[in-house]
Amino acid sequence: MLPNINFTTTTAYKYLTDHYIDMAAASMKDLFSADNQRFAKFSLQFEDILLDYSKNRVNDETLALLLQLANECRLNDAIAAMFNGEVINATEGRQVLHTALRNQSNTPVIVDGKDVMPDVNAVLAHMKEFSEAVISGGWKGYTGKAITDVVNIGIGGSDLGPVMVTEALKAYKNHLTLHFVSNVDGTHIAETLKGLNAETTLFLVASKTFTTQETMANANSARDWFIKSGGSDGDVAKHFAALSTNAEGVSKFGIDTKNMFEFWDWVGGRYSLWSAIGLSISLSIGFDNFKELLAGAHAMDNHFKTTEANENLPVILALLGVWYNNFFDAETQAILPYDQYMHRFAAYFQQGDMESNGKYVDRNGEPVDYSTGPIIWGEPGTNGQHAFYQLIHQGTKLIPCDFIAPAQSHNPLGEHHNMLLSNFFAQTEALMNGKTEEEVVAELKAAGKSEDEIEKLAQFKVFEGNRPTNSILVKKITPRSLGSLLAMYEHKIFVQGIIWNIYSFDQWGVELGKQLAGKILPELKNNDEISSHDSSTNGLINQYKAWR
Ligand code: F6P
Repeated sequence: MLPNINFTTTTAYKYLTDHYIDMAAASMKDLFSADNQRFAKFSLQFEDILLDYSKNRVNDETLALLLQLANECRLNDAIAAMFNGEVINATEGRQVLHTALRNQSNTPVIVDGKDVMPDVNAVLAHMKEFSEAVISGGWKGYTGKAITDVVNIGIGGSDLGPVMVTEALKAYKNHLTLHFVSNVDGTHIAETLKGLNAETTLFLVASKTFTTQETMANANSARDWFIKSGGSDGDVAKHFAALSTNAEGVSKFGIDTKNMFEFWDWVGGRYSLWSAIGLSISLSIGFDNFKELLAGAHAMDNHFKTTEANENLPVILALLGVWYNNFFDAETQAILPYDQYMHRFAAYFQQGDMESNGKYVDRNGEPVDYSTGPIIWGEPGTNGQHAFYQLIHQGTKLIPCDFIAPAQSHNPLGEHHNMLLSNFFAQTEALMNGKTEEEVVAELKAAGKSEDEIEKLAQFKVFEGNRPTNSILVKKITPRSLGSLLAMYEHKIFVQGIIWNIYSFDQWGVELGKQLAGKILPELKNNDEISSHDSSTNGLINQYKAWR
């Protein structure tokens, strides 16, 4: 059982409310001037990952109170409950054990009295064997040719994780070309199939439930295309594999269950890249690299499980997030990787975080009277700098940002990496220090502007600064360090869900739209006028029918 504590009733929360008044007025610049140990004090290192959280609006007291808050919310009990396989996803009656998928220590993980590790290892062995056969060319298509292209068909957690990781680890990629189809918009599959050869294409139908409308529609269209292109029903086995928990659904679809890679309902969709859903990753970068990804995540799991809260990276990140979310009323959190390969990282954690902690009902089933999960967004630097950073620097909203960068590039090219990293360092410095009116005036004077011009311009060029950031410097983005980074963010989300007293592992909020779409779909089959909805929905449907 998870603890059930309203964090706003804790002693720490009360102290934090008072403490916030001081800290809201404090300047980070002054905090740095007053303490030359600030970086050393407020940074942590885990393997090749350095987390510098010193550019936050915190001091020793803030940290102590936030840690007390975690303690009063019995965070340690919650962590133990997750790793021990308690049914902490109570509204779905499930354990939360994605950590078992990467449990490289192979210690027993008990679900309903049974150790799940032998099953986990058997699927990993199947993934290894299959990946090696496809990569080596030993796995032949129906005309005896080796596979050249792999199309992963899935959506949400069955797409975002594999896309993000295969992109982030592109430097490790082999000769196979990976494609990802997610959208039910026919354009996605149609455009993907253009130029593919059915004889050398392998489809992975990735769906935990094997009922998701988008995935089933795309999988059916892929099979139709395969048959039209010359394959027979009997050839489907050589070209379609399924990644799912639903063996019955897989065999109904016509995929040989020998080509099914199983996982279990204790793996949440948005936590499933570590499971068979990661087969596209293993095909793209090889099984050994996939295992390294798991090993990196496992190392972070151990760190999270065993390290004191004050030195625990996910815990610290989570508490800082709570500080801004619940005291500074920040509504969003930006994730800004300075690494082109990580261009889907923020999109991945948009689902990871928002589907987990976008809840307004607490663990008692009562509406909360405090803010829960933030809006997650972001793009790679430096592109974002030329798009939306203006608002982060001079807008009216407080946007805590995570800046992530590798110290070593996979593509060292002239001065590019120094240029990239100079921006990474400069942005957090600028966000903290800002630029005072005196500095602006001095600059304008030095540029030869008249008194009159200076007076007109100065205010627009002032940056108030004091905007918080975390800097996450990674030695190099490798399968291992990426695995650790991902697990770090996953656990951060978990910790925040514990503090906010919500269930982070269900996603009932996506159901209503699905149900209504299911009702509307039959109404679109004919041209009859529709009057069963509100006037807006009726009007839109009827106009659609008139125009289609
Ligand atoms: O959008 C809701 C959701 O259930 C996600 O949680 C999940 O990742 C996605 O749909 C896909 O589900 P499935 O893997 O069952 O097709």
